[in-house]
Amino acid sequence: MSDHVRNKMGSTAREGTATGLVGRDHECAVIDGLLDGASEGNSGALVLRGEAGTGKTSLLQCAAERADELTVLKVTGVQGESDLDFAGLHSLVRPIVGYLAKLPEPQRDAVEGALGLAPSRGADRFLVSAGVLSLLAAAAEECSLLCLVDDAQWLDVPSAASLVFTARRLGAEGLVIMFAAREGERRRFDAPGLGELVLGGLDHESPSVLLSRSAPDATPWVRKRSWPRRRVTRWRCSSFRPRCRTGSLPAASCCPTHCR
Ligand SMILES: Nc1ncnc2c1ncn2[C@@H]1O[C@H](COP(=O)(O)OP(=O)(O)OP(=O)(O)O)[C@@H](O)[C@H]1O
Ligand SMILES: [Mg+2]
Repeated sequence: MSDHVRNKMGSTAREGTATGLVGRDHECAVIDGLLDGASEGNSGALVLRGEAGTGKTSLLQCAAERADELTVLKVTGVQGESDLDFAGLHSLVRPIVGYLAKLPEPQRDAVEGALGLAPSRGADRFLVSAGVLSLLAAAAEECSLLCLVDDAQWLDVPSAASLVFTARRLGAEGLVIMFAAREGERRRFDAPGLGELVLGGLDHESPSVLLSRSAPDATPWVRKRSWPRRRVTRWRCSSFRPRCRTGSLPAASCCPTHCR
């Protein structure tokens, strides 16, 4: 397995990692539960849904940072590759194609064909999907796996279908698959049967925490002007910007900190 996909965090990184995310304790607890399960050889899947800027990518990053004992594979759906069959799968599993040798021959042929590693005999999508499950399970036998699929709404359809197929059949592989999908886009990521967390707005305390963190020196006037006037439940983190006149705050302090 390629070294670059191994999580470099030390074994104590989990406890010491501050997510930097405000108001997402429940989501982080769910993610921790999945990661703990994987460390014990269990598997699980989760779909994060929400509008733009609600923190889906940040939560995936947090998962990667907290997965101190897991190997992390990542793919981000790309709008320009949405019509390219198996492009997403190709990105995700490229670091673990060495495990293809462990697959039953029909599955191996199907996956190799789909990934362009062998002549394609016409993609049998069931065999490809079964092969993806076998491939991830084979890799997870050596080290538990965390697969992060961001912007799943832009995945090509066969990749999305094979990953959802896999996620629906997880057992005791030590494998976690997390999807993040933006709501309100022309394309929707459908994942029937998978557990979902829908990211809404933040609670009432979160704006003041974000404000103190991103603009600790803000004057009371700026604080008052920065408070969201809309209902907080309709408010997104990425829309948070202290309303300040030029020069009244350092530019960097106008943005919430990223998940680190
Ligand atoms: N709960 C939060 N606490 C602090 N900052 C947050 C929180 N949620 C999001 N942010 C910040 O908001 C910005 C957007 O977050 P992020 O990119 O994770 O959103 P997203 O849901 O993935 O959006 P998109 O659908 O556009 O991909 C980032 O700078 C992130 O750090
Ligand atoms: Mg995102």
